[in-house]
Amino acid sequence: MSASPSVNTVLVTGGAGYIGSVLVPKLLAEGFRVVVLDRFFFGRENLAPHANLRLVQADSRRIDASLFEGVDAVIDLVAISNDPSGELFQQATREINHLGRVRTCELARAAGVQRYILPSSCSIYGFQDGLVTETSPTNPLTEYARANERAEAGVLPLATDAFCVTVMRQGTIYGYGARMRFDLAINGMVYGAWSTKRLPLMRDGTQYRPMLHVQDTTDVMIRLLRTDPRAINGERFNIGGEESNYQLGLLGETIALVVSGFLGENVAVEWYGDPDHRSYKVGFEKIERVLGWKPAWDAERGALDLLARLQAGTLEKTPKTITLGWYQELVKWHAIIRDVGLHGGILDIDAGL
Ligand SMILES: NC(=O)c1ccc[n+]([C@@H]2O[C@H](COP(=O)([O-])OP(=O)(O)OC[C@H]3O[C@@H](n4cnc5c(N)ncnc54)[C@H](O)[C@@H]3O)[C@@H](O)[C@H]2O)c1
Repeated sequence: MSASPSVNTVLVTGGAGYIGSVLVPKLLAEGFRVVVLDRFFFGRENLAPHANLRLVQADSRRIDASLFEGVDAVIDLVAISNDPSGELFQQATREINHLGRVRTCELARAAGVQRYILPSSCSIYGFQDGLVTETSPTNPLTEYARANERAEAGVLPLATDAFCVTVMRQGTIYGYGARMRFDLAINGMVYGAWSTKRLPLMRDGTQYRPMLHVQDTTDVMIRLLRTDPRAINGERFNIGGEESNYQLGLLGETIALVVSGFLGENVAVEWYGDPDHRSYKVGFEKIERVLGWKPAWDAERGALDLLARLQAGTLEKTPKTITLGWYQELVKWHAIIRDVGLHGGILDIDAGL
């Protein structure tokens, strides 16, 4: 790709989710037009109306070429977005996270879209000794991680000189989003420590995991839209910096200290679960070299930001903030409503009398 026409309109799939609820307002503030494709499983209220924002309620597995009219770039966030949900809803995870995203990428290319970004996950590294880089072998341990790996393998060969495909391997995200997630490590630790003075920590604490603030990952997405495609086309990037790999036991102790200091009360660590076999330390040299980018956030700053919001009452834990639990609720109520719903309603029904 010699010239790089600028991106004006961005299609964000899954744009009403956690990362999307931070990314979309940022894109709008930067002057992009945005189309959000989402089922709105977590509601529409997470995206404020805006003159340059169009919401499309549709399933990512059933989209057609018309969606890409006028679209310059796609950020394909849509997914069943964590390991436990991926294990419970395996077929949907394969369809949405892998097959659907490859199809979206194919449709985008055929429609003349310039760029496609796949926000994948460092979880595809699974369990590994030493520092893993973008060229290290992968070792996905869950359905969710396998679907990400297959999506990467499906979309990268679609890159051409006219169609820039870039994969972002994100660590576990933390920080505030309008569609909040307390099922993510740091967010859950902060909430538990703040609300009960007990910080939940997954056994056995020796596992390493890269953490990435939601503001940082969305900054990278926007930066990728503006980077010369020749530097990023067909490439995978681990997203993070030197300080992003945390050993979970130490991270828990750090967060416990931050919360203790904030509240002026003692916070104890409370272990849960079976020992977690997912452990990997990730190298981030490539993104700094190619994009000149480093994270602006760290766990302590992220924790303090969440604490301020919790304390101010502008952030609360609701059933929607636990992804697996919310999907289970939706599936349960779908069955109940299908069973007892008649004539278009439950108690109020379509007029007929
Ligand atoms: N949050 C993290 O820690 C993290 C880490 C690494 C990678 N990622 C990846 O980033 C992406 C976004 O994650 P998130 O945390 O924002 O997830 P999320 O669950 O908050 O958002 C996913 C969105 O997709 C929508 N959706 C799901 N299935 C759909 C379908 N078939 N059709 C249309 N819409 C559908 C949901 O309604 C939701 O709004 C995912 O691909 C996830 O795997 C996230």
